[in-house]
Amino acid sequence: MHKDLESIVLTREQIAQKVKEAASWLDEKFKDSKPLAISVLKGSVFFFCDLLREMKTPVQLDFMTVSSYGSKAQSSGMPKIVMDLAASVEGRDVILVEDIVDSGHTLVRMRDLIMGRGAKSFTTVALFDKPSRRQVDIKADYSCFEIADEFIVGYGLDYAQQYRNLPYVGILKRSIYGNV
Ligand code: IMP
Ligand code: MG
Repeated sequence: MHKDLESIVLTREQIAQKVKEAASWLDEKFKDSKPLAISVLKGSVFFFCDLLREMKTPVQLDFMTVSSYGSKAQSSGMPKIVMDLAASVEGRDVILVEDIVDSGHTLVRMRDLIMGRGAKSFTTVALFDKPSRRQVDIKADYSCFEIADEFIVGYGLDYAQQYRNLPYVGILKRSIYGNV
C-alpha cells in the first residue's frame, strides 16, 4: 500500500467486478442505440477505458476536462470547462462517465450543458457516490459504489494531481490534505 494511505477501500479485483456489472447494465439499456460515451477528465479516465472495454454495444467516445477543485480537497462549487468536447451531442444518446459524485455540482453543470446542446438523452454512470456530501439534488443513474465521507484516491482519483495511477482505491491520510 502507498505510504500516504490510511487503508485500501477497494482492490483492483473488486473494482473490475463492479465495472463488469455496470457495462452489462449499459449494454441492456443501449442495445438498440449507438450511444456517445463522454469521459469527464481526468478522474474518470481509468474507469472509462475499463468500462467501455467490457461493453458489447458499439459506442463512440469523447472527452471533456472539468476542474472543480484547484488543489484543495473541497469543491469550489463552480466547475470550470477546461477542455470542451470535440463533436456535437445533438440528437445523441449520451452516457456521461464520472469518477465520483460528491457535491453534485459537476453533474448538474454537465447535464445542463449537454441537454442544452440538444442531446436526445442523458445517462450518467459514476464509479463512486458520496450521498452524504450532496449540495444539489441530483444522482447518477448508475453508481458502482456508495462511500462514506472520506477523501479517497487511486484508479483515476487524485489529490493535487497525485495518486491517479494507483490500481486500487484508498483513503488518503488526513495529514496529507490537512484541515480543508
Ligand atoms: P462535485 O462537483 O462536488 O460532485 O465533485 C465531483 C469531483 O470532485 C469529482 O469528479 C472528483 O474529481 C472530485 N472529488 C470528489 N470527492 C473526491 C474524493 O474523495 N477524492 C478525489 N476526488 C474527489
Ligand atoms: Mg472528476
